[in-house]
Amino acid sequence: MIGTAIDTKLPRLHGALPGPKAKEIVALDERHISPSYTRSYPLVAKRGQGAMIEDVDGNVFLDFAAGIAVVSTGHCHPKVVEAIQRQAAELIHISGTDFYYSQMIELAEKLEKVTPGKEPKRVFYANSGTEAVEAAIKLARYATGREKLIAFQGCFHGRTMGSLSLTASKAVQRKGFGSLLSGVFHIPYPNQYRCPFGGGAHDCGDDVIEHLEKVVFKKLADPSDVAAIFVEPVQGEGGYVPAPPKFLRDLANICARHGILLVADEVQSGMGRTGKWWASEYAGIEPDIMCLSKGITGGFLPLGATVCTRSVREVFRSHDRMRTFFHGHSYTGSPLACAAGIASLKIFGSEPVFERIAAIGKIHAERLPALKKHPAVGDVRSIGTVAAIEIKTGDAGYLSKLRPFLYGFFLEKGVLLRPLGNIIYVLPPYVITASELHYVYDVIQEALNALPALQTGRGGAS
Ligand SMILES: Cc1ncc(COP(=O)(O)O)c(C=O)c1O
Repeated sequence: MIGTAIDTKLPRLHGALPGPKAKEIVALDERHISPSYTRSYPLVAKRGQGAMIEDVDGNVFLDFAAGIAVVSTGHCHPKVVEAIQRQAAELIHISGTDFYYSQMIELAEKLEKVTPGKEPKRVFYANSGTEAVEAAIKLARYATGREKLIAFQGCFHGRTMGSLSLTASKAVQRKGFGSLLSGVFHIPYPNQYRCPFGGGAHDCGDDVIEHLEKVVFKKLADPSDVAAIFVEPVQGEGGYVPAPPKFLRDLANICARHGILLVADEVQSGMGRTGKWWASEYAGIEPDIMCLSKGITGGFLPLGATVCTRSVREVFRSHDRMRTFFHGHSYTGSPLACAAGIASLKIFGSEPVFERIAAIGKIHAERLPALKKHPAVGDVRSIGTVAAIEIKTGDAGYLSKLRPFLYGFFLEKGVLLRPLGNIIYVLPPYVITASELHYVYDVIQEALNALPALQTGRGGAS
């Protein structure tokens, strides 16, 4: 077991933050490391256990970001640590593109079992979420012989050039990078909270389907030219917005009708994060391709997986092209990453993970209504383990001060939370306890109460 300070169940801070050692390391980091990372906390991590992070000065924080929804089963889960140590002593790497090893297959079998659909599947391993999406783009184009791709406004699929062509979350993520993939069309996401078509009596999902069929397919891209539609069944970085289940079923039917592949990006919404193994299960859809990453290894080593199901394999079979789809990586599903993945999936079988997930969801449901009544709050929502608290935006001056204010406030309380723009995300690891979760809600309430001091202008609802 690691150091004693981390055994505490609530944050423990001594002295001003950042502490002396953290200050030194942040200064060195500024000299050597790319400034492209959007670090907001001067927190220098030393070790983690469960839901706690200890910094280099011995301060202990409660982690409600879980490494951006990665460390789902908690920091340094002993079973994952043990599996990594055992595997590292035996075989760390031998490129899976060139040779065989059983860990790759064992993890694929486990992923096949828990992903939607009973048909046998095929798994391709990448090194990250963005690479799982890259593989899906290439696979969809290759398998269908079509070029065009459809994605959603507000979606996030990664930042490499292919996945970035789909990402439409913030203009700044594309800024300065020149032309991206051609043939990509973005349609509105069926956000039931802020329907891009104005809402009213109409179902937002129906409006988006109508737009796809009457505008996109009629005026921009013939469906027979479309290789794939990429969808996050719950938009993650876009604000944890779930797509209506009927909408996803309609989308799946349209895809089936036109021979378009439905790609579900479950990099963030998967592995229990939204309350089921995969968010696609809420709609009962069986995507043709699924992109997975983040929680699949318990967060301990980067691994992405692109799981293709029946219809993709049928296309391959009919063209006898499975073996000529050339794609791979040196580190493709390394033995170490696969060992961590196998251990992580076993945790779901040996511990009451879904009971914990349900308990977290219950506390979100209990605490969010009170926050919604707060005058500073525009909207609240939660699905499974995640909650989003949307703060009303005021003038630009207010918005630019909001994020640093919230980061500072949360840090002083020993809580690591992710405020992005005007949204506070609560993303705990599944080992979080009820008292820890109530503590963070108390801290958020306090932060909201302190917001009027920030107001510089008139403000207004977002
Ligand atoms: C839905 C989704 N897809 C893809 C990615 C990219 O994953 P990575 O950061 O591992 O490249 C993310 C990352 O947040 C994501 O949320």
